[in-house]
Amino acid sequence: MDANVPTEQGVAYINGEFMPLAQARVSVLDRGFIFGDGVYEVIPVYSHQPFRLEGHLQRLERSLEGIRLVNPHTRGEWAELIGELARRSPDEDQSLYLQVTRGVAKRDHAFPKDAKPTVFMMTNPLVPPDARMVSEGVSAVSAPDNRWLRCDLKTIALLPNVLLRQLAVDAGAAEVVLLRDGSLTEGSASNIFVVKDGVLLAPPKSNPILAGITYDVILELAQAGKIASEIRTVSEAEVRSADEVWLTSSTREILAITKLDGKPVGDGRPGPVFKHIYALFQEMKHALRHPGKAAHA
Ligand SMILES: Cc1ncc(COP(=O)(O)O)c(C=O)c1O
Repeated sequence: MDANVPTEQGVAYINGEFMPLAQARVSVLDRGFIFGDGVYEVIPVYSHQPFRLEGHLQRLERSLEGIRLVNPHTRGEWAELIGELARRSPDEDQSLYLQVTRGVAKRDHAFPKDAKPTVFMMTNPLVPPDARMVSEGVSAVSAPDNRWLRCDLKTIALLPNVLLRQLAVDAGAAEVVLLRDGSLTEGSASNIFVVKDGVLLAPPKSNPILAGITYDVILELAQAGKIASEIRTVSEAEVRSADEVWLTSSTREILAITKLDGKPVGDGRPGPVFKHIYALFQEMKHALRHPGKAAHA
């Protein structure tokens, strides 16, 4: 069997129906397939409970509005469908993917008049980064951010991100750190944070970056952990002279980037601020799974 063909054992939902992922089908005329005309979300699910659902649904609304596609569901309907899918999956922890496209229509760039949006969702097991990646950190390479200027919209048209991620893979690295006009934007599929002299620096949410849900979680945890943070433009020079650099995303949580372009970041080990935030993140997850119980009880 071709190793690149997924086993498709997950659970899926398409336009009103739940089914095994292997049975899910869409038309070749779907505008998602033809034009990449759609938006998506990736929601982590812990113990069958979607994490930060409100934040993801809010971002979905913004993305849909940004591409002028009417939201096919109310927040309540989304919550029900997503909850149902998360319950149907046998995996406790899941990466729940959802996408909405502009539907099936004769191929023409202009919006079709009567097309019905296609709603597709699937869940797959959520596997957190392995212990070695957490304890040793990962390497990254930098690259010019050559994507469009609406990276705040989570669109399925990800070819630029795909090409940028492959640059990292070709260099044996885990992620690419993107720079635009001398400043840090984000990674190909993650937000990037920098620590200098104990202060956590985060590029502001703006059109060239995706407003990560994990980004918000990290800043909230920093505040709770009394870690000083500043939301401001971070220069390339600051990235290159940082004590710590991190990547964050719903599926990779938080990882230290300990090598950038072949050079060690700080002392080349995950730093103290990373360790502090990482511990707070794990405590938060523990509290979600076991409401009312302390992490180290
Ligand atoms: C380009 C980009 N930036 C940032 C993120 C992080 O967003 P979140 O924390 O919501 O997963 C992602 C997630 O996939 C992404 O694709």
